[in-house]
Amino acid sequence: MMIPMHDMPLARPFLKWAGGKGQLLNDLVPRVVAAQPFNAYFEPFVGGGALFFSLRGQGLLDGIPVYLSDTNDRLMETYRAVRDDVDTLIDLLREHKDRHGRDYYYAVRAAVPDTLAERAARIIYLNKTCFNGLFRENKRGLFNVPMGRYKNPSICDEANLRAASAALAGAYLDTEPFATVLDRAQSGAFVYFDPPYHPVSETASFTSYSQDGFGEPDQRRLAEVVAALGMGDIKVLLSNSDTPFIRSLYESLPDVTVEIVYATRNVNSRADKRGAISEVLVRNY
Ligand SMILES: C[S@@+](CC[C@H](N)C(=O)[O-])C[C@H]1O[C@@H](n2cnc3c(N)ncnc32)[C@H](O)[C@@H]1O
Repeated sequence: MMIPMHDMPLARPFLKWAGGKGQLLNDLVPRVVAAQPFNAYFEPFVGGGALFFSLRGQGLLDGIPVYLSDTNDRLMETYRAVRDDVDTLIDLLREHKDRHGRDYYYAVRAAVPDTLAERAARIIYLNKTCFNGLFRENKRGLFNVPMGRYKNPSICDEANLRAASAALAGAYLDTEPFATVLDRAQSGAFVYFDPPYHPVSETASFTSYSQDGFGEPDQRRLAEVVAALGMGDIKVLLSNSDTPFIRSLYESLPDVTVEIVYATRNVNSRADKRGAISEVLVRNY
């Protein structure tokens, strides 16, 4: 068991997210520790932020700037509301909890409110109550997932929201594409990339996180960014699905280590005979 090194309350992701890395933390955290010391932390595909919250809770990001970003603006504005306005958010979620029901769910789903806190409360409410518990917009940017059948969904987890708010205090939270890290990260920084998976097979594809998919040209561009960061003395850790394309992309880069680890995925998990799916971990240190 890991013992928190300081009194930061332990926070978990406040949203369930496609490709969430909760299952891979035992493989990821020691590799982050091996990269220390670093002078800034970047997570440009933050999603639910499983690794960020785990590192923060263990005191491993104390005293350095933290940059979390993603292209999903609904997600990033929810992070900003948790960081900046957690009291209002909790009040709004209490109201959603009290009013939760079939008609209410579909009314909330249909309307995008005006204020940041209300929009964030809507995303958290829908995430906790929708079928499959995943916030996932279709190609037109619409959230059209039906209501799930949960007996007692935890719509307002006040303690975790407050812990997440404390964990996010002072963090930079931006809606931007991953390549922006090239402009921001300086020598001595650490970057964790967790892009949408390269599909293991046609049927296993799950790349439509938001309006935009993430195809092979994006994966190639990401490998170029990894190479450029390495030349700038920036430490990089990256995870992806274990496919021949991804292996060859990174095995061809100089000075990187490509490792295979096994994890159970929480989305679209198609277990192989061992009940686990192999993933690729790439690092340049
Ligand atoms: C595998 S998920 C990250 C999961 C996260 N590590 C977690 O633990 O929940 C990939 C994320 O990349 C985001 N994304 C897709 N295309 C992107 C791009 N071009 N730049 C930055 N983020 C992008 C998606 O919105 C999604 O949140």
